[in-house]
Amino acid sequence: MFPFYTLQNIQSAARLSPPARLAVFGDPVGHSLSPQMHNPALAACGIDASYVRLQVKTEEFLPALRALRELQFVGANVTIPHKFTALDSVDEVEPAARRLGAVNTILFRPDGTTLGRNSDGPGFVRTIQEEFRSDVGDLRILLLGAGGGAGGAVAVQSALEGCSQLILTNRTESKARTLAATLGDLLPGDRCRTLPWTADDLARALPDIDLIINGTSLGMSPDDPPLLPDGCLTRDHLVYDMVYKPLVTPLIATARAAGAKAINGLPMLLWQGAQSFEWWFNQPAPVGAMRAGLEAAVASVADI
Ligand SMILES: NC(=O)c1ccc[n+]([C@@H]2O[C@H](COP(=O)([O-])OP(=O)(O)OC[C@H]3O[C@@H](n4cnc5c(N)ncnc54)[C@H](OP(=O)(O)O)[C@@H]3O)[C@@H](O)[C@H]2O)c1
Repeated sequence: MFPFYTLQNIQSAARLSPPARLAVFGDPVGHSLSPQMHNPALAACGIDASYVRLQVKTEEFLPALRALRELQFVGANVTIPHKFTALDSVDEVEPAARRLGAVNTILFRPDGTTLGRNSDGPGFVRTIQEEFRSDVGDLRILLLGAGGGAGGAVAVQSALEGCSQLILTNRTESKARTLAATLGDLLPGDRCRTLPWTADDLARALPDIDLIINGTSLGMSPDDPPLLPDGCLTRDHLVYDMVYKPLVTPLIATARAAGAKAINGLPMLLWQGAQSFEWWFNQPAPVGAMRAGLEAAVASVADI
């Protein structure tokens, strides 16, 4: 198996044993951990298929999608930079994916048409359920990094779940305000609001927050500034850092030292993958095999 296939040689992936029937579209895509998560799942379920990476440029996306359909693929995932291209390329888009503004999972249906869905939102909900035993709808949420793709998806899904409160903050505050304006129909009144990213504002808000989410890339480098002012986390907080390299970020370490429950971004990768698998095969995903594959992949790569 190659590290990744292209539109030109994707036919050879279909001749693998087991044959490729699932792929992740990306550019670049060589770093994607999805094969290490999905191939153990396929083996655990006795499905005669494998999952490969497919590196295509934007203009190749649609021809590659048609090629996969002709090669009898079951479905595909889509990662950067193609999540928006995918939205316009599939025959039908599920309403939740339309609201999230991106497609990351494609299903090839028996009638030859394609359906685009987004497992990032449901993956986030399942992460909070499985890791914190909490429902997003019950929580008062503070999102740091409401200007990015990951933060935006989490914000929209939190609003779709009807969370008790959603406070959006971002280095570039205007992006948080733009996002908040799109969520007013789901969270009326002041249930969705923005907050300036200052130490004083954060310290005032945090006593009334249940779940703190880091949707920024801060925490990936040891030189990054702290996300929150000192001493404002307590054992009552749930902390979800979407960063997964390093596995224990400074935010997670600080939260755990304060007695709070804190997790990194790996569970969301796992649960969005499990959701995609369940859509493709209409059966429960073997989450244990997927988690083991993902953890082994993270442990074995120096730079993910
Ligand atoms: N666990 C998962 O499944 C998963 C999935 C996707 C992404 N992620 C992680 O989530 C993080 C964000 O990814 P993304 O794709 O959303 O990236 P993105 O679209 O580039 O967004 C980056 C976000 O981080 C903020 N930011 C960047 N540098 C900052 C700084 N120095 N100070 C304050 N804020 C800063 C940006 O604020 P501005 O708007 O002001 O620029 C923006 O809100 C990454 O660490 C990524 O690895 C995890």
